[in-house]
Amino acid sequence: MARLNSTLAARIAIFVLIAHLLLLPVLFFGLMRVVEHVLTDQFLEQVRGYARVVADEFEIGDALDSPERTRALLDSAILRGEGVYAEIVRPDGTITSALGQPGLARPSHQNLRYAEDEDGAYFLRLPIEHAGRQADLWLGFDERPTRAQIEDTRRAILWALAAYFALTMLLAVVAARRLARPLIELRERSRRVAAGEAVVQLTASTGLSEVAELGADLERMRLELVGVTERLRGEIVAREQLDAAQRALQAQLLRRQRLETVGTLAGGMAHEFNNALVPIILYTELLLAEAAPDSQTRADLESVLVAARRARDIVNKVLAFSRRPEPSRLEPVALEAVVEEAVKLFRALAAPNIEVRRESAPGTPAVRADAGLLVQLVMNLCTNAYQAMRPAGGVLTIGAYPWQSGAELVISDTGSGMDADTLERIFEPFFTTRGVGEGTGLGLAVAHGIASSFGATIAVESALGQGSTFRVQFPSLAAQPAPEAAVEEAS
Ligand SMILES: Nc1ncnc2c1ncn2[C@@H]1O[C@H](COP(=O)(O)OP(=O)(O)OP(=O)(O)O)[C@@H](O)[C@H]1O
Ligand SMILES: [Mg+2]
Repeated sequence: MARLNSTLAARIAIFVLIAHLLLLPVLFFGLMRVVEHVLTDQFLEQVRGYARVVADEFEIGDALDSPERTRALLDSAILRGEGVYAEIVRPDGTITSALGQPGLARPSHQNLRYAEDEDGAYFLRLPIEHAGRQADLWLGFDERPTRAQIEDTRRAILWALAAYFALTMLLAVVAARRLARPLIELRERSRRVAAGEAVVQLTASTGLSEVAELGADLERMRLELVGVTERLRGEIVAREQLDAAQRALQAQLLRRQRLETVGTLAGGMAHEFNNALVPIILYTELLLAEAAPDSQTRADLESVLVAARRARDIVNKVLAFSRRPEPSRLEPVALEAVVEEAVKLFRALAAPNIEVRRESAPGTPAVRADAGLLVQLVMNLCTNAYQAMRPAGGVLTIGAYPWQSGAELVISDTGSGMDADTLERIFEPFFTTRGVGEGTGLGLAVAHGIASSFGATIAVESALGQGSTFRVQFPSLAAQPAPEAAVEEAS
């Protein structure tokens, strides 16, 4: 009930109901007063007029001369009008019409006002004079038809008012519902918006300017909120992207620090080893010069020399990894030429099931590098690619392309590829997946050191079984070579 009361339609209906319950009784009683007044006045006027006519007949005519004529005129007075009683009262006697309503007794005094008596009759007394003689004419009239007329009118008015009331209530309910409809529509729409359907328009189809304006205001509010939500969502996405980029940068920094630490350590050790190796090699060479040809000693010394030189090669590689070449040694190098040289060399070396492709884009700018070291870098990358495709074979592609404002050297293979763990560590010195004696794990460490010395970076894309692509990316010639380069990896 409380819920019903609180709706707009119910409020309007209840208001109209209460207003009518208060006003209709007043209207009814007012109308009835007027009706009763008019009808009784009409009755009185009529009977008084008629009584006057009868009195005139008695005064002018000779009806009073004989009792028979008097009776006859009294009877005709009853028959012609709506009389119920007729009587002539004279000092010498009273004559009453027998046609009157039986059992009806006239009052002793006349009541001039219309009153609803028990007997339902209205009595009039008219004094008359004929031939010098006085008499009283008493006439009685039936009040009941007038009363019935009043009663009929009362009923008709009641019916009319009831019909009016019912119709008004119906119209009020219909109008209230029509008024409430756009508001309900607006409410449904705003609920949907609140539930997350941001695209629902907050408008109401109505001619009511207040509701239409409310709808327009709400719609403006919704658009504003949607805009804010979109902006927040955009900011969240941007922040997430920024976080991801930051995490990637941190991981990169960590890798670089690790490489640097290992590089410093390895460099220091290589230096010491070199110091130890130089006298070994020199003294062995001296002893070899003195050893008798074809002697066992010479053969042993030669073995020592081979092993020592191999050790020196490794040491040199480690030194190359940790070395920072002088910027003055860097000069413009055309990557095309390097690619051509590498392709030539690997075509000559490669097994028949390995195809070596050359793929270069025209107009690749020259880069700043040390030509000798650059060849070593390419050799290391190509060797790895070649090894990754054995024994099944595949395609080794070597190419040079413009990259950003500089250029890139791309070496890709269709070989074994690498998993994420391997990819994470390939630039670490001594990291290798090859068997003992097969690889030193220095190839990529050295390549990285060389690239860094040119201000270049090495980016890797690889997945297990999908081959690998190494991109050595050089800044433009105009740019100063960076002291160090970051290593980016991707799978
Ligand atoms: N193109 C490639 N395809 C698949 N794996 C590769 C590729 N290049 C490098 N690797 C992986 O990276 C590891 C490190 O390579 P790196 O060249 O530094 O050392 P290595 O090749 O093992 O030894 P070395 O170069 O001294 O012979 C390799 O053992 C190999 O697992
Ligand atoms: Mg290698």
